Amino acid sequence: MAVLVSGGAGFIGSHTCVELLNAGEDIVVFDNFYNSNPKALDGIRKITGKDFKFYEADMLEMAEVDKIFSENDIEQVIHFAGYKCVPESVKHPLKYYSNNLRGTFNILETMKKYGVTKFVFSSSATVYGYPEKVPVYEDFPLSAINPYGSTKLIIENLCREMYAANPQWTFILLRYFNPVGAHKSGLIGEDPNGIPNNLMPLVLDKAMGKRDILQITGADYPTPDGTCIRDYIHVVDLAKGHVAAVKKARELENGCPAYNLGTGHGYSVKEILDTFQRVNNIDLGYTIGPRRPGDAAACYSDPTLAEKELGWKAELGIEDMCRDAWHFVQVRNSENNG
Ligand code: UFG
Repeated sequence: MAVLVSGGAGFIGSHTCVELLNAGEDIVVFDNFYNSNPKALDGIRKITGKDFKFYEADMLEMAEVDKIFSENDIEQVIHFAGYKCVPESVKHPLKYYSNNLRGTFNILETMKKYGVTKFVFSSSATVYGYPEKVPVYEDFPLSAINPYGSTKLIIENLCREMYAANPQWTFILLRYFNPVGAHKSGLIGEDPNGIPNNLMPLVLDKAMGKRDILQITGADYPTPDGTCIRDYIHVVDLAKGHVAAVKKARELENGCPAYNLGTGHGYSVKEILDTFQRVNNIDLGYTIGPRRPGDAAACYSDPTLAEKELGWKAELGIEDMCRDAWHFVQVRNSENNG
């Protein structure tokens, strides 16, 4: 029986495929390459020395989703596929609702049809809205502050309501904080199509000379150095959290728990930039700019529930995150030029 991974060529998906294969899981993967690269699939195969079945498929096409379930013995699903750019979601809410929700409905409908009842969902710390205090615990109030966040919250609510109505299902909601870094091989990493908007891809573009300006968006927040604090988590640690969740879903007869996947440590933007410069010996030449609308001053997790119930804990630090992210873009660059 296999674990089906939707969006498995993406940043978090590809690292999760590696960790699942390394843990001896059988996987089936699909992706439409909207925001990912087929090279990630070669990377997964090279790193693990293992093969897996891949479908280029779109979750909006019910027939394509159905085909995957009809041709494979699926035990559970990890659902990554979805649009994830916050500013774009503010400009194009219908695009986000339409893709993220309709795609998820298709996957859940198909799971129901084939009697697959275990679903691990790629949620986000965005469901905490502007948290009133930090660290953030799983039982904090939930709210959506942009259309991207609305889609995550609606899907979480759907999972809770489906579980209430059908207690034979197991849903595991994984709330990611700020995933960065890359596999240490440099063969997979964050490879967004189009203009990045998250901090680390912007840092990498600046370090590669692909952009002229890198700004800290606000240095007047009520934090020790004035810049925003976030819970950056190495993507390999995050991927291992999914392996733990798959095992938990297998153990549980039913349920709908949510887990924070973070390190529990907050780092400021300035600390991230300075660490990147130090470990990679690069001068980023960053400047201080105005605040970015909608940013909370500080957001970091309490990850103890995941440690207690999933037996998972993040192990890598910000130096690893900065070093591995930079290594990946250099490997990718030399491949592109070679
Ligand atoms: N930042 C800069 N300069 C930039 C871009 C970002 O200083 O050019 C700062 C932001 O102000 C923020 C930090 O870098 O303080 C991190 O910003 P990101 O955009 O990388 O990440 P966010 O914390 O804003 O967003 C992340 C995920 C979202 C998720 C959100 C809440 O990318 O998907 O956390 O959990 F919704």
